[in-house]
Amino acid sequence: MHTLHINDTISGPGYDIVVAEGCDKLPEFISALDLSESKALIVTDSNVEKLYLREVQTVLKGSFKKLCSFSIPAGEKNKNLDKVRDILRILIVEKFERRDIIIALGGGVIGDMAGFASAVYLRGIRFIQLPTTLLSDTDSSVGGKTGVDLDSYKNMVGAFHQPSLVYINASFLKSLPKREFASGMAEIIKHGLIKDDSYYEWLINHFNQINDQEPEVLTEMIQRSVAIKAAVVEEDPTEKGVRAILNFGHTIGHAIEKYMEFKLLHGECVALGIIAASFISYERGYLNTEEFYEIRDMLLPFNLPLSLDEGVDTKEILKITKLDKKMDSGRIRFILLKKIGEAVIDTTVTDEELLRGINKLKDN
Ligand SMILES: NC(=O)c1ccc[n+]([C@@H]2O[C@H](COP(=O)([O-])OP(=O)(O)OC[C@H]3O[C@@H](n4cnc5c(N)ncnc54)[C@H](O)[C@@H]3O)[C@@H](O)[C@H]2O)c1
Ligand SMILES: [Zn+2]
Repeated sequence: MHTLHINDTISGPGYDIVVAEGCDKLPEFISALDLSESKALIVTDSNVEKLYLREVQTVLKGSFKKLCSFSIPAGEKNKNLDKVRDILRILIVEKFERRDIIIALGGGVIGDMAGFASAVYLRGIRFIQLPTTLLSDTDSSVGGKTGVDLDSYKNMVGAFHQPSLVYINASFLKSLPKREFASGMAEIIKHGLIKDDSYYEWLINHFNQINDQEPEVLTEMIQRSVAIKAAVVEEDPTEKGVRAILNFGHTIGHAIEKYMEFKLLHGECVALGIIAASFISYERGYLNTEEFYEIRDMLLPFNLPLSLDEGVDTKEILKITKLDKKMDSGRIRFILLKKIGEAVIDTTVTDEELLRGINKLKDN
């Protein structure tokens, strides 16, 4: 087991991020939060409910005054305000008060949505992240960004609300479909590229063990990714500056996600966005040819897509990219790689550069 404490300079004492193999240490960390007289609501989704709800309920028996649960149909299309309203109604019916807590048991969809419900209920109650996907283990559960989509606008409504505890049980990943595992790998590769070249090399050298989910390699990878994410959000909790580097691959990635009407997974689109952003970095002279192709080619063994179909309208993707919300007075705050392991925020990327980056995805 490995614990990392993340400081929260804005709203509280910070929180522990625990990486463990199993749920047995969870009650110990929960008891440190003084919750024995509190009620808890586990929010999960229809897939995770079948796999892990009973196990978690059993482990947490005795940790709270009352333990309720609520399951939402799985899938991004349910990350919306209607489902938040359903969660809030339960909190009202069960008479949840300020001292009570929500536990998000699931992937990023559940973490974002349950986190948002906890941010707005009674102007904010506490919540715990129990992530169950690789993406939520290493990315979405850390950093306190919560929210939902509005129509096809991703994460348009939300709040910064830090969890009180993130407990990562790596053994939840055993049941994760291969495609979902790959989707999480895109964010992990992103962590290496933006912040740590030795981690990036380590990932390339361990792709077999990672794909085989060898426990020791998997936990080392989760720890290293979480440490990178934690360091960035600790420095800039509300994305006034440096936190934006975590959006590497996301500006074009989100546009592809929307263009494909969410038929590709988030991480698959991020992988394509990473290639496009790396190509722009290469054209700027920051990366050399070998570095660009190494980045592109390392995505393949992790089962991520490298290209877009011939029929895709890249100009339309450019248009959607420009509608992305991460704009700075009308200019896109684009993330480039200055070199492998170092990202920069750039507001000078032109439409032509963006289009060449997106078009590169067709001749891969
Ligand atoms: N808050 C943040 O900082 C942040 C960062 C990155 C992504 N996100 C958000 O996260 C979401 C994507 O998260 P995700 O990829 O975890 O998707 P997800 O929550 O939809 O989970 C993916 C699928 O896997 C299933 N599943 C979950 N755990 C499982 C397990 N252990 N075994 C078998 N099946 C399991 C789910 O039911 C779902 O069908 C997006 O909405 C994205 O916007 C948020
Ligand atoms: Zn992402």
